[in-house]
Amino acid sequence: MVEIAFLGAGSMAAAMVEGLIAKGTYPPGRIVCMGGTGASAPALAKRIGVRLARSHEELLSQADTLVVAFKPHNLAGVSARLSALAAGRLVVSVLAGKRLAALALAFPGARNVIRSMPNTPGQIGAGLTGWCASGPLCAADRATLEEIFGALGRHIELPEAQMDAFTAISGCGPAYVFEFAAALRDAGLAVGFDSAAAKLLAVETLVGAARLLAVRNVDPEVLRSEVTSPNGVTAAGLRRMADRDFRGILLEAIVAARARSEELSA
Ligand SMILES: NC(=O)c1ccc[n+]([C@@H]2O[C@H](COP(=O)([O-])OP(=O)(O)OC[C@H]3O[C@@H](n4cnc5c(N)ncnc54)[C@H](OP(=O)(O)O)[C@@H]3O)[C@@H](O)[C@H]2O)c1
Repeated sequence: MVEIAFLGAGSMAAAMVEGLIAKGTYPPGRIVCMGGTGASAPALAKRIGVRLARSHEELLSQADTLVVAFKPHNLAGVSARLSALAAGRLVVSVLAGKRLAALALAFPGARNVIRSMPNTPGQIGAGLTGWCASGPLCAADRATLEEIFGALGRHIELPEAQMDAFTAISGCGPAYVFEFAAALRDAGLAVGFDSAAAKLLAVETLVGAARLLAVRNVDPEVLRSEVTSPNGVTAAGLRRMADRDFRGILLEAIVAARARSEELSA
């Protein structure tokens, strides 16, 4: 029975494993994991019932796909033995900032190497993963990627040149949204709500609006105009946001994050 192997069993690997099992794509018996010297892999195996490998040989004995989910700096420690064991297999990296060239250097014999960037909503199956491949993908490997990234939510294939921009928007994006929620909460406090009410107003408004956007599936401007009558209350708020160039500030944030991602990528 062909297995999927996870090297690294922390939060990202756990989110993927849980998604694969919840979607019924892989039963726990077809998933094998291994961590470093800590407790994460035994804990994941115990909690979810996936197989725990005690060596790289055991990890890859029946696996056709290796998901590399340790910390980016661990890539430098990949041994020649592990590289050799991964030869002929599909290697999928979730390591932030590790380029295809660096991944291919660590796993030169892999059938194909995938660089991906998941985001944190993947923990609840609402993620968006950007990914690129080092070579042309066969239909079976494409289907495997569909299963792996589908476990976290939606996914998009990109040219590698766009991965830093993807990171700046979708990888970091949840932080911008959380910052927006915090700003809305603080504004609520400033205009007189107590902290519980201010938090409720901020979070529920944001979650409700995001869900409405997802369900209606129209441009955000369409929904915005539905709440905005000429010279009305919303228009007064939006005008002040435009006066302070809200969109320009967000663009600056994204350009800065992309530049930092380019600096950090290797
Ligand atoms: N979390 C996110 O939202 C997110 C988003 C995008 C990308 N990523 C990427 O996902 C990767 C994992 O992040 P994380 O948040 O899941 O980290 P984490 O929770 O700290 O997990 C790291 C895992 O790596 C294992 N590990 C350490 N050294 C190892 C080694 N030499 N060989 C095999 N496994 C080893 C650890 O095992 P022990 O417990 O045994 O030490 C642990 O299972 C990172 O590369 C990160 O860039 C994460």
